[in-house]
Amino acid sequence: MQTRITELFGIKYPIVQGGMHHVGFAELASAVSNAGGLGIITALTQPTPEALRAEIERCRGMTDKPFAVNLAFLPSTRPPDYPGYVKAIIEGGVKIVETAGNNPKEWMATFKEAGIVVIHKCTSIRHALTAERLGCDAISMDGFECAGHPGEDDVTNLILLPLCAQKLKVPFIASGGMVDGASLVAALSLGADGMNMGTRFMATKEAPIHQNVKDAIVAATERDTRLILRPLRNTERVLVNEAVERVIETEKRLGSEITFSDVAKEVAGVYPKIMKNGEVESGVWSCGQVVGLIDDIPTVKELIDRIVVQARSIIKERLPRML
Ligand SMILES: Cc1cc2nc3c(=O)[nH]c(=O)nc-3n(C[C@H](O)[C@H](O)[C@H](O)COP(=O)(O)O)c2cc1C
Repeated sequence: MQTRITELFGIKYPIVQGGMHHVGFAELASAVSNAGGLGIITALTQPTPEALRAEIERCRGMTDKPFAVNLAFLPSTRPPDYPGYVKAIIEGGVKIVETAGNNPKEWMATFKEAGIVVIHKCTSIRHALTAERLGCDAISMDGFECAGHPGEDDVTNLILLPLCAQKLKVPFIASGGMVDGASLVAALSLGADGMNMGTRFMATKEAPIHQNVKDAIVAATERDTRLILRPLRNTERVLVNEAVERVIETEKRLGSEITFSDVAKEVAGVYPKIMKNGEVESGVWSCGQVVGLIDDIPTVKELIDRIVVQARSIIKERLPRML
């Protein structure tokens, strides 16, 4: 399968694993890259730039295929050591970076000087156009269905992807709600050059997270995600649980008076407890609506092979019969 994305990244299939906090470690990134997709290590999950450097090395020991690093620019009271993380990425010899959260303006010149290809993940066409203007090489378009931060516009990929096809010159991939061969073909039909998946890759054997998290994903339906933190203009799509119910209750009670500290207990620093210890009710964690379409825990290779077989069969057998 060849698209502008497989060519740009030097990968076999146009399938990308999005950066995921406390999920995107070397085990998952290397498994995705070894299976022909693009695996991504999440920079800010590593406590320091030195730890990121070591994680990049560890990943290189597990795959000889291209992999990327995700660097998110999210609102924070204590910003991480971005110069340090960028240096670790460059000195680690990583050639592809996925940026997200805010545009990578400040770092574009540095990335370009280092010969790094930048794919920027965003949730609106206006932000995609800004990223293209800044010199980003590709766009990952996160529709309203997505896990994590869908932005504040609430526009799904059925609208965003055709807009990308009309307005962008750089390649772009569909992110949010992508799960199987049918999603891949749908994304390609709408003009995309591939797809990005988050939630689907969590429910794989190699995802280095607790079995309880994978089981919760398999058990959940498409009605089990919630949007939280909207009053703080930092909307996040998460899997409903006790902590999420508490956040929603606090949001209702405090209305526009709410501040981050009112929900910090459920939101801040909770990922290790959930992903590592399996305490899935102890805090909020990102999850996409696509959770309703996930009912097994294959290996990454089984998943990617299955997607490719399904996509080929739709393109070669199902669609031609309609002509
Ligand atoms: C548990 C989890 C953590 C995530 N953490 C990040 C992150 O740290 N940085 C980021 O850019 N995106 C993050 N995302 C978003 C994914 O990279 C991806 O854009 C999203 O999952 C796509 O939607 P999908 O889950 O429907 O496939 C996260 C997603 C999940 C499920």
